[in-house]
Amino acid sequence: MYLLTFSFIVLFAWILCEIVVIKKQTDKIYQNHVLFEISMPMWSICAQYCSRVQACKSINFIALNKTCQINYGEPGECNDELIESVGNSFAAASTFPKNLAGPCKGHDCKPNEVCMPKGTAYKCFPWFTPQFHENNFQRIFVACSGNHQSILDTWKYASLGLNIDFGKSCSNRHLRSTMIDKWDGSLIDQVKVELFRNGEPTVEINFDGRGSTSSDWFTKNRLRSNSFIDMNQQSVFNIFSMDGADTWGARHFFISNTYYNGGCPNDIAWMAVIDTSDSNVRACNYDRLPGKAYPYILYGPDQQLTKFEGSYAVADMMIISISMV
Ligand SMILES: *[C@@H]1O[C@H](CO)[C@@H](O)[C@H](O)[C@H]1NC(C)=O
Repeated sequence: MYLLTFSFIVLFAWILCEIVVIKKQTDKIYQNHVLFEISMPMWSICAQYCSRVQACKSINFIALNKTCQINYGEPGECNDELIESVGNSFAAASTFPKNLAGPCKGHDCKPNEVCMPKGTAYKCFPWFTPQFHENNFQRIFVACSGNHQSILDTWKYASLGLNIDFGKSCSNRHLRSTMIDKWDGSLIDQVKVELFRNGEPTVEINFDGRGSTSSDWFTKNRLRSNSFIDMNQQSVFNIFSMDGADTWGARHFFISNTYYNGGCPNDIAWMAVIDTSDSNVRACNYDRLPGKAYPYILYGPDQQLTKFEGSYAVADMMIISISMV
């Protein structure tokens, strides 16, 4: 029995190993080698940024002021040059997976430039380019977990949401802007989806919104930078859509790698909005979270793909914002 349990754990760890790709050291930083620093919401976005800068050898992520420090060096073999720094984290670029840079893999940008993916190609910008950091995003949709309202239906039907302009909370109904109804043919440049947990951003996904409609922007082909370390246009998706899948319970805003493949234990995904509270079909354990009311906004913890039946994180809020061209 003991042996059986042990081999199961090894197998599971092996499966996860394919997924767990970045060696992040917590409560440690590498001092005195900072090339420059920029503000970033999450460490995984910092790691991605580093993978696109030739000179970046490692990163420190300072949690308190959400600062990404790009280091021009990395500590030697023993890591004994890392200093204790509670709450912050360190990662060496040499441990990043090769595809972290997405289309920027093998880029030929100059040492003082950062490579930014543009579709399946890329462009080079100097490090401090306002274009990347200062997009004027405007919130057009705020969805909250636990208020018994369908998120997808509120996105689609103006009458279901509260107007976002009045600064209301979404405890009873989700908030939406009439901008959603005027979307088609408008000059939208980017669409940003953010998930929050305890008020902190935990997931960020950017989409190319140019020429999109309010119902077709949430798709693989429009995927741009995002905070998952294992998701880019080359990743394997079986479902990537707002309408998602409704057969075994509502899975909306669904980005999955494996689904319809041997039942709940094999559902592997980055995120899903489970928002039909009166559904008679509650096929999986993750459709019935103890003590939680619908809707659920689920995502992979640790900035990566997850088996929902084994591990998931629940966001309190999903915010969708747009920037104009
Ligand atoms: C953030 O905090 C770190 C550590 O205290 C500091 O070195 C860094 O300069 C700060 N960055 C900003 C932008 O405030």
